[in-house]
Amino acid sequence: MPEADATEAKLYHQDIPQRNTAFFLKGSGAYDWGMQNRLARVFAPDSGRAVMLAIDHGYFQGPTTGLERIDVNILPLVPYVDSLFVTRGIVRSVVPAATRAPIWLRASGGPSILKDLSDEQIAVDIDDVLRLNAVGVGVQVFIGGEHETQTVHNMTRLVDQGLRYGVPVLGVTAVGRELTRDARYLGLACRIIAELGAQVVKTYYCEEDFDTVTAACPVPVVMAGGKKLAELDALKMAYNAVQAGAAGVDMGRNIFQSDSPIAMLKAVRKVVHENMRPDHALELFETLRREDPAGLAPA
Ligand code: R5P
Repeated sequence: MPEADATEAKLYHQDIPQRNTAFFLKGSGAYDWGMQNRLARVFAPDSGRAVMLAIDHGYFQGPTTGLERIDVNILPLVPYVDSLFVTRGIVRSVVPAATRAPIWLRASGGPSILKDLSDEQIAVDIDDVLRLNAVGVGVQVFIGGEHETQTVHNMTRLVDQGLRYGVPVLGVTAVGRELTRDARYLGLACRIIAELGAQVVKTYYCEEDFDTVTAACPVPVVMAGGKKLAELDALKMAYNAVQAGAAGVDMGRNIFQSDSPIAMLKAVRKVVHENMRPDHALELFETLRREDPAGLAPA
């Protein structure tokens, strides 16, 4: 039998009203506790931003340059990311279960680069998302694509399943070759994805009026990196995106195809979380690269 609590001096602090703390993330105040807690594991509550590392490219294009050996090339980067965007196949086969980084699971798939990419279906059951303790799921939405409605439906089904268990959905604006990545198109796609329930939207950056894309999207927007650029250009793009209202980045090739991925990741972190200017971030990158020419040694 437990002992009775015999302590005389109990501290009820009757003079201190219990506070209700507003959730810090844009558009996310009305979610249930589990959903907010998952989002707070991805977006830093102090900066409100996130650095996600996307390594899911193999799900449609096979062994992408830089991702041939995820165990060798990518696992050393994991301690420096806020979360990892990855397929369940790679999670189970390569990522150690002791990994601390939250996992976003790629949840759509189907066609390879040899076919129409918009012909995707849901590729993960919500049971497996929970089994893998994922922090969220990501799904492509091809607004204007051949299979637009199907991909929107993939997303809304995942949103329904995610709401049941507190799992956020990252809706990705997937742009086919025929579509222009301007603010008008990206604004349309981001808004549709958010209106239909995604808790986070991932989209490409555009030089002009990207601030209108983020302003008109009622939930956090994270910037996708796109093809490999010179480090300074990638840092400028990340800087401009967050200054224009993005809540962080979900970059892949511009990090893992850099000749010093950890240095690049650290530089991107400074840009995203501390508003470091791109020229200073490049100096940091160069310094870190000189210290570790192989670019993979943990600090
Ligand atoms: C789309 O969601 C892709 O699978 C990648 O996650 C995305 O393109 C981000 O990677 P990258 O920065 O290389 O474009």
